Amino acid sequence: MAILYDSVARTFTLHTAESTYQMKADAQNVLLHTYFGPRADGTDFSYLIVSRDYGYCSEPAENTAGREYSLDYFPQEYPVYGDGDYRVSALQAGIAGQAPALALRYVSHRILPGKYDLPGLPALFSIEEGDAETLEIVLKDLYEEIYVTLLYGVFEEKNIITRAAVIGNRGAKTVKLSRVMSMGLDFPEGGRELISFYGKHTLERQFERKTLCHGITEISSARGTSSHHHNPFVIVCDRNTAEDVGACCAVSLVYSGSFKLQAEVDQFDSLRIVCGLNDNEFEWMLGSGESFAAPEVVLSYTEKGLSGLSNGLQKTYRENLIRSPWKNRKRPLLANNWEATYFKFTGGKLLELARQAADLGLELFVLDDGWFGKRDDDRSGLGDWYVNEKKLGCTLGELADRIHALGLKFGLWIEPEMVSEDSDLYRAHPDWAFVIPGRDPNRSRSQLLLDFSRQEVREYIKGRIDDLFASADIEYIKWDMNRSIGNVYSAADPGLSQGAVRHKYILGLYEVLEHMLAQHPDLLLEGCSGGGGRFDAGMLYYAPQIWCSDNTDAIERLRIHYGTSFGYPMSATAAHVSICPNHQNGRMTPFRTRGVCAMQGAFGYELDLDRMTQEEKDEARRQIRLYNENWELFQQGNYYRLASPYENPDFTAWSYVSPDQSRASLSVVYTDVHASAKPYRLKWKGLLEDALYELDGKLYSGTALMHGGTVLPWPECDYDSYMTVIERKN
Ligand code: DGJ
Repeated sequence: MAILYDSVARTFTLHTAESTYQMKADAQNVLLHTYFGPRADGTDFSYLIVSRDYGYCSEPAENTAGREYSLDYFPQEYPVYGDGDYRVSALQAGIAGQAPALALRYVSHRILPGKYDLPGLPALFSIEEGDAETLEIVLKDLYEEIYVTLLYGVFEEKNIITRAAVIGNRGAKTVKLSRVMSMGLDFPEGGRELISFYGKHTLERQFERKTLCHGITEISSARGTSSHHHNPFVIVCDRNTAEDVGACCAVSLVYSGSFKLQAEVDQFDSLRIVCGLNDNEFEWMLGSGESFAAPEVVLSYTEKGLSGLSNGLQKTYRENLIRSPWKNRKRPLLANNWEATYFKFTGGKLLELARQAADLGLELFVLDDGWFGKRDDDRSGLGDWYVNEKKLGCTLGELADRIHALGLKFGLWIEPEMVSEDSDLYRAHPDWAFVIPGRDPNRSRSQLLLDFSRQEVREYIKGRIDDLFASADIEYIKWDMNRSIGNVYSAADPGLSQGAVRHKYILGLYEVLEHMLAQHPDLLLEGCSGGGGRFDAGMLYYAPQIWCSDNTDAIERLRIHYGTSFGYPMSATAAHVSICPNHQNGRMTPFRTRGVCAMQGAFGYELDLDRMTQEEKDEARRQIRLYNENWELFQQGNYYRLASPYENPDFTAWSYVSPDQSRASLSVVYTDVHASAKPYRLKWKGLLEDALYELDGKLYSGTALMHGGTVLPWPECDYDSYMTVIERKN
């Protein structure tokens, strides 16, 4: 049993392979958070909570415990606004028209087999009987019929605890929710650090580590998407935590819209983390009998350092979050025409590219933006999902058939959440776009957002997608989204609380994705938002891979991939070889290095294949062969960050090790070159100590490679690279 309830101490103890998590319903029925740390026994950890009469710490509403009891410094499981706790809260709500205030007290609980789900929202799931248990704890406001059900999913073996919260209005009066977080997590000791991943378009998920000081640190997005700018994934760790040692806790929100994560260090140096929906512009009216589910948060605690943490998360997301049948299949090596042609193509040019792709040994041809409506640049056409037969010289079905005849699968780009003002769809339904009445909207890439909170808009888009699938044999979709959400106003119901629209939009997006996948269960869906603007655990539930960044420069990708690897499977990280000078930053890198870098993730090519030199084609064939021989290692292996692009100015290195440790790869990209350079040594990780591995024709023991290391070849030019695969021989 991973979940234990002690009816005398009234403690709930959740055990995973490496951690223990504990709560306690105290004498006042307040649900305290008593422990989250290395695996321990069932001790009631509330002895660590010291009650004192601290100044300016108010007592809870019912005050049965006297002045030595205040929620202002007690560690709590789901802290609310308005009960004497002045720190950041997980929930701010109250009867509509009255001041928000809650006093939540424990009512009941249930322990259930399997993993709960959250209808309409992405969430982790069980893959076999007995791999997960659920704890449901019901709290109720002291005064009103407002209930909160806290949900916990414990994947013991995977070292994962999930959390979610469902707010229920069982009274007659409407309840106004103005802030709903999925969780609160109190750490009694401060002195922690926060690792988060900031960025911008073409430079997503940049690693940043900082000491948490007194006050509130916030990582959030108000862009309606999880965003390029901040990612809904952080790590809280000790000062001494490194790749292979130290305590660390992952907090990963399974949601693709505006989010907020706050870390507050309080007057007693305790740390509180809250994480959930961004409360900027959020307001949800909960009618009598209704409930509201906050998205899921995934937690994992380990003392094995960052490498142990991210490998555990990567595996869990590969197995228990990604639903696609493609999760364990070899991902097709693709050619995408975007950087090859942008909007300037004909059907003939596409077929020429596809022919070259087939000749190189690629498996999927993706037709990117520009095939529909009036779309020869990014100023028009979005919303008109009708093929431009004049441009293609044939129907979409015919093009797909010709591509299939070359032995390739056919994939298509779409951006269904958007509309151009210069489109038939906008002309017919201007009120389907987000525009605040009486104000001009902010345009971004000359496009507006379709109001996905509206049923009729979603039905229209579902219909258009169904028609596309009916018109051509499409095996892959790249679902793009090229602007931040703004000017949010739903014209559907002017009385509707506009503060609900952003979240309803995301629920609407999930509904449309669900529809498409239900109709086409074998579809390979790739997420995209101007590259990695919506690279989050929510999207992975639908899309087993996500275009990681619009930046295809191999060297900048080193940092992007490095950051992404902490929270997400590398198999989900789509990466392509592109042309040089690179289109985003003008850098020249060897073709070989571009392949080494792109092979870190879902691999493909995005350049004019017609214009490749013979030497490049030979190198591409070598890369494709290497990937085909090792795809299981790359898709399912443990991933080790061996040299950080932030700490090592000379090279970045990483390695994959197969789950049975019989095979491993080593990839190195040199980021600087020196005359009279010193020899570089690098230690492998994750191998079997006693096994003998063959490297460059010689046998080495696992201990030799891990403790002594490998001497790397000298780089021969700027941005040179090295990649090798070793195999166990005994
Ligand atoms: C942004 C994507 O990230 C690119 O790969 C490409 O699909 C363009 N959109 C097309 O407009």
